Amino acid sequence: MITVIGSINMDLVVTADKAPEAGETVMGTGFRQIPGGKGANQAVAAARSGAETAMVGRVGRDSFGETILRGLQEDLSDTSHIQRMDGVPTGIAAILVDGKGQNRITVVSGANFTFTADDIDAIRPLIARSHVLLLQLEIPLEAVFRALVVAKEEGVCSILNPAPAIELPPAIYGCVDLLTPNESELSILTGLPAGTRPQRIEASRKLLGFGLPSLIVTLGSEGSLSINQTGEIRHVPAYPVDALDTTAAGDCFNGALACQIDRMIAESGQRTGRFVPTPEQLAVAIDFATKASAISVTRAGAQPSLPYRREIDAFDAWYSLHSS
Ligand code: RIB
Repeated sequence: MITVIGSINMDLVVTADKAPEAGETVMGTGFRQIPGGKGANQAVAAARSGAETAMVGRVGRDSFGETILRGLQEDLSDTSHIQRMDGVPTGIAAILVDGKGQNRITVVSGANFTFTADDIDAIRPLIARSHVLLLQLEIPLEAVFRALVVAKEEGVCSILNPAPAIELPPAIYGCVDLLTPNESELSILTGLPAGTRPQRIEASRKLLGFGLPSLIVTLGSEGSLSINQTGEIRHVPAYPVDALDTTAAGDCFNGALACQIDRMIAESGQRTGRFVPTPEQLAVAIDFATKASAISVTRAGAQPSLPYRREIDAFDAWYSLHSS
């Protein structure tokens, strides 16, 4: 079972052939309101990949909150920890998707930023009975840090997707089992360049030096690099496709990855102590997550783009028609 603690947003999505420069006006080609938020997207991705998934999150008592909650109730096995808050609006994200499928996102957090460390203590039993705890950085850092500490104390495997990236206190890395930055997030976390393979390895080693057991650096069309404390480095290739919209591709990857790790823990029968996947197991989980996100970028929007297990399992046939 996976617990996701994180953000829930309504995405206000404008499509345009070209993004405007500062001071410029361009004509758009479409507008949609689509459920999103990194936390909710990752929870839906995990659930559609086949995991029993609980979400802890907050929305306002407004129509966005109502619409999003109804959608999440269809996908997730437990939405009882999603609270509707008085006096704050549901979080929103203003998203511009250009003609190449690239996005620019501005988040206004609203209810997502009302979490405190005490709120995390109140859900300790939920964390304790999870196989995997999945977190991002769209809720207050004090809540994320507390959740990681609780997971460590309870022997629960934790995955932190450090997005959007901020510099983190070094002590947090000793509480995370698996960190999943992309290249620019790795650079922000470490203050080091991460544009080339040697730079990514050096930056990753800085985080491993703080006690992080392993990390996966996602590299978009270049695939991903996994690095762990033993010094083992693996590259898992991407599946190139023509991207229509990359929104939530990273969320899809993280949710699907968490689903595979949840399965491995369930199959291992291990219930106490932290589960550490072998490099081989991690490579299999990364490949599954890479397939899921390749499907997602060929579809528009955040949650509507996230694939179901049957689609990921039928990937080879799908890819023979969609590879670029
Ligand atoms: O990762 C994509 C998500 O980032 C969007 O759904 C948006 O809500 C922001 O949280």
